[in-house]
Formats: sequence, structure tokens, C-alpha cells
Amino acid sequence: MTGPYEKAYRRSIDDPNGFWGEAAEAISWYKKWDKVLDDSNKPFYRWFTGAEVNTCYNAVDRHVEAGRGDQAAVIYDSPVTGNTVRTYTYSQLKDEVARFAGALAAQGVGKGDRVIVYMPMVPEALIAMLGCARIGAVHSVVFGGFAAHELAVRINDAQPKVIVSASCGIEVNRVIDYKPLLDGAIEQAQFKPHKTIILQRPQKPATLKPGFDLDWAEVTAAAAPADCVPVAATDPLYILYTSGTTGEPKGVVRDNGGHLVALNWTMKNIYDIDPGEVFWAASDVGWVVGHSYIVYAPLFHGATTIVFEGKPVGTPDAGAFWRVIAQHKVKALFTAPTAFRAIKREDPNAKLMGNYDLSHFKILFLAGERTDPDTLHWAERALDRPVIDHWWQTETGWAIAANCMGLEVLPVKAGSPTKPAPGWDVQVLDEACKEVPRGQIGAICVKLPLPPGSLPTLWNNDERYIKSYLTEFPGYYATADAGYMDEDGYVYIMARTDDVINVAGHRLSTGGMEEVLAQHPDVAECAVVGVADSFKGQLPVGFVVLKSGVTRPHEEIVKEVVQMVRDQIGAVAAFKQAVVVDRLPKTRSGKILRGTIQKIADKEPWKMPATIDDPAILDEIKEALETIGYAEARQ
Ligand code: COA
Ligand code: AMP
Repeated sequence: MTGPYEKAYRRSIDDPNGFWGEAAEAISWYKKWDKVLDDSNKPFYRWFTGAEVNTCYNAVDRHVEAGRGDQAAVIYDSPVTGNTVRTYTYSQLKDEVARFAGALAAQGVGKGDRVIVYMPMVPEALIAMLGCARIGAVHSVVFGGFAAHELAVRINDAQPKVIVSASCGIEVNRVIDYKPLLDGAIEQAQFKPHKTIILQRPQKPATLKPGFDLDWAEVTAAAAPADCVPVAATDPLYILYTSGTTGEPKGVVRDNGGHLVALNWTMKNIYDIDPGEVFWAASDVGWVVGHSYIVYAPLFHGATTIVFEGKPVGTPDAGAFWRVIAQHKVKALFTAPTAFRAIKREDPNAKLMGNYDLSHFKILFLAGERTDPDTLHWAERALDRPVIDHWWQTETGWAIAANCMGLEVLPVKAGSPTKPAPGWDVQVLDEACKEVPRGQIGAICVKLPLPPGSLPTLWNNDERYIKSYLTEFPGYYATADAGYMDEDGYVYIMARTDDVINVAGHRLSTGGMEEVLAQHPDVAECAVVGVADSFKGQLPVGFVVLKSGVTRPHEEIVKEVVQMVRDQIGAVAAFKQAVVVDRLPKTRSGKILRGTIQKIADKEPWKMPATIDDPAILDEIKEALETIGYAEARQ
């Protein structure tokens, strides 16, 4: 028997033009497309070529015109600023966005110009993003937890005319000055922006450089509201940098038309949200989840989105999520499993839940890392509602595999994000690019073309796009995740196949951390490995070999490299552990055996690699790991 999911899935693969052409009817276009799927320049597929559209118009203005002007568009809930709650109706959001867009235009920002947004979780971050979209500028949001160096790298690549930032961000127990980080980044970067616009926050206003740093409040008060500008559906809406194998992040590009169509489609079909309902993605605007599900998709769909400036625990307690759900009548919450592990650790019996009325709450969605069965079952028991794992990546912009709750509810299998979502022809391949039998692990790939909303390329780097994603398995997009599909077609994601690790749902590059460690004057060579952690999923551990003749105490050097990663990448890297070793295990051709080190640290069975240069080194690594609480299990 073929259910609605199977029918939709088959149609999306067999007739992508029909499937996505129909979904596109829900979007307001200035000009309709010549082609739904344009495959005239493979492997660069484009969606809705010839069409003209505006993303901000579809997120904001059209809802006002359709009578939703008085409905809440954005609810800002900020326990870290003394329980501030501020609601923006669609009409208010339109006014704020139009004025901010006008302020950008007054600084000479126009179609195609880049604007970096480096902000904490405040509604002005959304206003800045939508303001860019309104005038056809391309935003690039940089996560506020990244340090100056990471920001500088992004400034050089995106070359923004203007940077929008805030005077400070607020973590649970400390105020983070953004301005010195921003100034440091601009100083380090070769490319210099024309101006900055700074949101002054009362918790810690910044000193502005006259003529260069503009005050958000002043420029918006002085600006004339700007109207929506038609752009090509294929024009870039944003660049979002994400970790790759090296310290040089990849600039994932998102277009306007395909993104609108796909994200709007997901709100009902995957998340089962109707216009007017409240959807909460407890992530950060600096990550893809924030772009897609704090900002764009809920607004495209006429829903209400929540901007939460707080944490699952500590603001003030492990009942924070239940408080927000109850207070704002949230229907579905989307967060990372690590947030639930944090709650479970503090309130193992979910007692605090009893203090709140969760009657509007229907579904919990989890993504960003694998949902371990323990966390899944704990959340299911505590909530007595469906808990839905779904799998996606910055590159894909929306779920590759999900239980499409608005289409058809499929049985949940612990450890699996269910089946490929419509649009995604997922196949598990071996090295020869052949599908492996069901149940066997291989490289998870997606047969081209990717559906709308996924990356068309990397910013200014078609070559890297092809090399990173399309070369290893010709005709396919390589997800860099390994895993398998079971007999029922459920997908299981097991591990990354590259040097990317996942720390508390944050994607980080071990290669990037190695580049920092290598800069230490006493370090000859180094390796960073992601080891399993029951709370954050993975944690980075560094191994450093010192230059000969260095006699300084190891603890001092370890302390210094830890601080260097914090200063250059940011606290979010959670790089707190490193050990000094005499040598690193390598293959005879000189490749560091990071995978073997990781298995030893994770107490997984491991075999002596046939190509190892000197097996004795692994004993030394094991001993070093034992000194920081990790040990081996040898097969
Ligand atoms: N600005 C500045 N610093 C930040 C930051 C930001 N926006 N976000 C995090 N940091 C800092 C934290 O304060 C912490 O600093 P510390 O080393 O001094 O303690 C460090 O970066 C690590 O942060 P994090 O990994 O978030 O750990 P945490 O212990 O502060 O919180 C969780 C753990 C689980 C509560 C938190 O990671 C979380 O809510 N994660 C799930 C939701 C999510 O955002 N997922 C992302 C994709 S869906
Ligand atoms: P990001 O680009 O930050 O969204 O990280 C994407 C990576 O996170 C994926 O390639 C996976 O390795 C991992 N990931 C995201 N969601 C899941 C999930 N539901 N299950 C397993 N891994 C996931």
C-alpha cells in the first residue's frame, strides 16, 4: 500500500518539475519561472530560472497584505536580560525591516552587496537579515560565539560593504563585549568594510568610532523606509560559512527562489505547522537551523517564530524550555539533542515540567547531531509526545531525512531520522560508487540534482564546490556522513567521513584547531581528534609534539594552546584538553592516524592499521589518553 509519504516522495524524484512547480504556487512572484529545474549547465543545477521574487516580501509584507498584520510574527524572549518579552506583529516587523533596509541603502548597500551580521540572539538580527533580503543584498551571519580571527576570515571572503553588530552578547553568567572582537577582526582582515552599524545594548554600550561605527537607533530613525526589490530567483540570498576539513570555512550559498519554495513547503509537510501557529527553533541565528527555522521558514508560512536569548539550563533552571512553550503556546520545538541531555542531567525526572501548561505543545524535533536512543526515550517519556529526529546539513538548508509529520506519520525507529524527505534521492554507496546492500555501511550520497533550497555552489568558489561535494562520487552529492539504510528504507547516520566534529550540535573543524595549535612556538606537530562525550556528543582533544630542546613544563604549554583556540576560534570550540606526546602515529606515507586515536579514546574496538609506521606509538598515545581519563579496548 502506498501512503501519502511514499506518493509524495516518488513524485518528487520522478517528476521534480511537477512537484516543485506545484509547491511554488504558494509563493508570491513578480515574474514566474521559465524553467522549474534548469539542468542546462550540469553539475550546476538551478531552480526557477527566469523568475523574479523577493524573499522579504514573502516573509513579511504579503502577510500584512493578507490580513495578518496584527498577528505576532516574532516573539523575543530573553531570560538573560531580566525576562524581557517583546512581540513584533507582522505590521511592526514590516516597518522595522523597511526602515533598516533604508538605513543600509543610505550607506550605499544595494543588490548583490554583502553585509555581515555578527549579533547575539536579538530580534534585530532577524531585522538585519530581512533588511538585506528586502534590497537584494546578500547577508552573511557569523555566529556570535566565534572569535575575532574567525570573523576576519569571513570578512576577507565575503567582502562586506557594511557589518552589522551589537555592543554585547549575554551568556548565562557573563556579558561578552562584541565591539573589541569586531574591531580586532576588522584590523586583522585585509578587506575593510565601509561602515559598521552597532546596536547599543544597555547591558554594555560600546564606544563608537565617529564616522565609521554608526548607531543602529540613529540610522534607523533617520532612514526612509525601503521597498522590496525584485531579484532573480537564482540570485544569492545569503552566504553561511561552515566548517570544512581545513581552517578555511566553506561559504555555503543560498538562492532566493528555491529556498523560498522548499522552506515554505517544509513548514506544513515536515513540521505540521499551519499559518498563525507558534514554532520555536531553540538554536542561534548564526547556524543554519537559525537561518531556516528561526527566521525564514516560519515567516514564509505566516507562523509566529520565537527568538530565545537563553539556554536550556541555567536561565534560570532546567524548566526554561517548558516555561517558554507554555507562555507562548508553542506547537512544535526544534532543538539539538544536547539541549535535552543538559535538561535531563539537571532534572532527570522532568519534575519542572509539571509547573507548566504544555497543552498546545504537539511535537519535539531534534537535529544537529545524532539523537542517541537514551535521549530519545527520555524525551518521549517526559513529554508523552512524538520526538522526531531529522538529519540535515548547512549545505542542504533543510532536512535530507525526516519523519514528515504533516504528510504522514511513520513509525519512529530509535537511532534513525526516518526516511529521505521528498526531493532527496539518498543512496548509500561504496568506494566504486555502487549502492551497497541494505544494512551495510557506506558513504551516504544524494543523486543529483539536489532539491530546491540546497546549496547551488560555494561563494566565489565553484571549483571548491565541485571538489568538495561532487567529485568523489560522480553524479552524486557526497554528504560526508557515513551510515546505512535498513530494509524499510530508514536512514542511519553513523559518523562523518572527514575531519569535521560535532560539539553540542555545533559543527567544528579539527583541521582548523590544528592550524591554531601549530602556531604555538614550541609545537612541532599536532593532531586534534573528536572523542565521544556523553553530554556534548563529541569534544576535541589535542595531541602536541614539542620541538626538540623545549623543556618548559607541559602543563604550561597545554594551557597556552587551549587559550589560543579560545582566542582564535572561540569558546564554542570547547577545546579544553590537550596532551603532550613524543610522536604521533602515522601511516608509512605520513598520514596521521586520527581515526585510530579516536577509537582508542572512545574505547571502541580497533585494529592495528596495516600501514602504520611504528606500532609502539599507539601505546604511548594510549598512556597519554589515560592521563586525561580516556583509555583503550583493543580487538
Ligand atoms: N557567544 C559567546 N560565547 C558563546 C556563545 C555565544 N553566542 N555560545 C556559546 N558560547 C560559549 C559558552 O558560554 C561556553 O563558554 P565557556 O567555555 O566559558 O563555558 C562555550 O562557548 C561553549 O558553549 P556550548 O557548547 O554552547 O556549551 P554550554 O555548556 O554553554 O551549553 C548547551 C551547552 C547544551 C546548553 C548548549 O550548547 C545548547 O543549548 N545547545 C543546543 C542548541 C544549539 O544551539 N544547537 C545548535 C544547532 S541546532
Ligand atoms: P551542520 O552543517 O552544522 O548542520 O552539521 C551537519 C552535520 O551534523 C551532518 O553532516 C551530520 O554529521 C550531523 N547531523 C546533523 N543532524 C543529524 C542527525 N539528525 N543525526 C545524525 N547526525 C546529524
